Amino acid sequence: MPAQSMEALVSLCKRRGFIFQSGEIYGGMQGLYDYGPLGVELKNNLKAAWWRAMVYERDDVEGLDASILTHRKTLKYSGHEATFSDPLVDCRQCKARWRADHIEDQCPACGAKDLTEPRPFNLMFKTAVGPVDDGTNFAYMRPETAQAIFTNFRHVVDSTARRPPFGIAQIGKAFRNEITPRNFIFRVREFEQMELEFFVTPGTDEDWHRYWVEARIAWWEAQGVPRDRLELLVVEADELAHYSKATTDIMYRFPHGLEELEGVANRTDFDLGSHSKDQEGLALSAAVEPNTDSNARLAIQDPDSKAWQVPYVIEPSAGVDRGVLAVLNEAYRVETLDNGSERTVLALPRHLAPLKAAVIPLKKNHDGIVETARALKARLQKLGLGRILYEHTGNIGKAYRRHDEVGTPLCITIDFETIEGDGTVTLRDRDSMTQQRIPLAEVPAALKAYYSEDGEGA
Ligand code: GAP
Repeated sequence: MPAQSMEALVSLCKRRGFIFQSGEIYGGMQGLYDYGPLGVELKNNLKAAWWRAMVYERDDVEGLDASILTHRKTLKYSGHEATFSDPLVDCRQCKARWRADHIEDQCPACGAKDLTEPRPFNLMFKTAVGPVDDGTNFAYMRPETAQAIFTNFRHVVDSTARRPPFGIAQIGKAFRNEITPRNFIFRVREFEQMELEFFVTPGTDEDWHRYWVEARIAWWEAQGVPRDRLELLVVEADELAHYSKATTDIMYRFPHGLEELEGVANRTDFDLGSHSKDQEGLALSAAVEPNTDSNARLAIQDPDSKAWQVPYVIEPSAGVDRGVLAVLNEAYRVETLDNGSERTVLALPRHLAPLKAAVIPLKKNHDGIVETARALKARLQKLGLGRILYEHTGNIGKAYRRHDEVGTPLCITIDFETIEGDGTVTLRDRDSMTQQRIPLAEVPAALKAYYSEDGEGA
């Protein structure tokens, strides 16, 4: 069973150092969160799993890491300047502001029915670039990572000789001035996306769309989010984003309800076409604004016929933060033990665990034990599995409880038997809580074997 409430997750995240509210010592800022010592490891592991699946394990995807500050014209021709907005209403009584499509006809704060007519509120953040802020030299903080993939299309094609079907993958920050950020890290103003723009020959787009929906569900399953906790929502025609011909949302049952975890959109030739010069020569499917500013034609030329074709784009776009929330929610368990006591455990898949192992000296002031434990930690760290923690608190019972709660799959305890007896250590398994003694010298091989059993790799 996943966590029973968002409060349980928020509390664990703060107490154990996963996620903190940003600027909390000054009262905090709505819709902004900071990832702490364990949160940064979990988030990095989730992103690494996506990159492995999208870039390393495929032969048809290249990577990209583009700038966050985005040319104004990019977001003009993408359609975001004109259309990337949510409907805003004001309460005339208490002055609260709401997203019109998130509320009924009364103010959730004071109950008044005295609301203004909805008006579009553009979600993009702007910032001045350079020393003089005269209102003209600004850039946008990108609202999606996708646009830089489109504007770099020519460079990637020219430098890699790719032809459709192929994709460009990117992970990075995106910013949206959400009217009402809410539900912890679910809807925030600064977040990360993992986006793939997969370029295909027109006519094959619908098959590739189905392919990517299925591939993404399978990937979420490997992150510990089972298929039966996901639902597909085919977005209604009148709700589609301006660039989309069809979108299937992968919905997950978050603690606050069933909501979008990832969207898989068929963006057609809209974006490459919009950013291209000489659009008249391109047989575009979608109506786009004439582009008088671009210096590139974002299309593929047939070497024989010399005809140009603008590929269609299938885009699986997942939120990293929503992914972290889903993964934490699925992993969270409160178990009743045989002796009637309870333990909280994060049963994270091995490759996502923030700490791969904790090395625990039974006595923190015994030189021989401490030295052996520190040397083992240093050796295990070199295996490249991820973070290994030298546990310095010295209370073994508490250490096991803490590591269960943060999802550390293995604890290794060094005691008197290790340094004065048969040279073995205790290896404790998070899920079964079984403890076995193995020779100290065999610990690195045991850890390597344990992490290679996880098909994802650590
Ligand atoms: N490039 C397509 C795109 O940006 P989107 O559905 O607006 O599509 C994709 O966003 C994903 O980004 C969502 O499925 C969600 O996981 C994440 N996301 C969007 N807005 C978010 C927000 N305010 N806070 C956290 N994650 C968000």
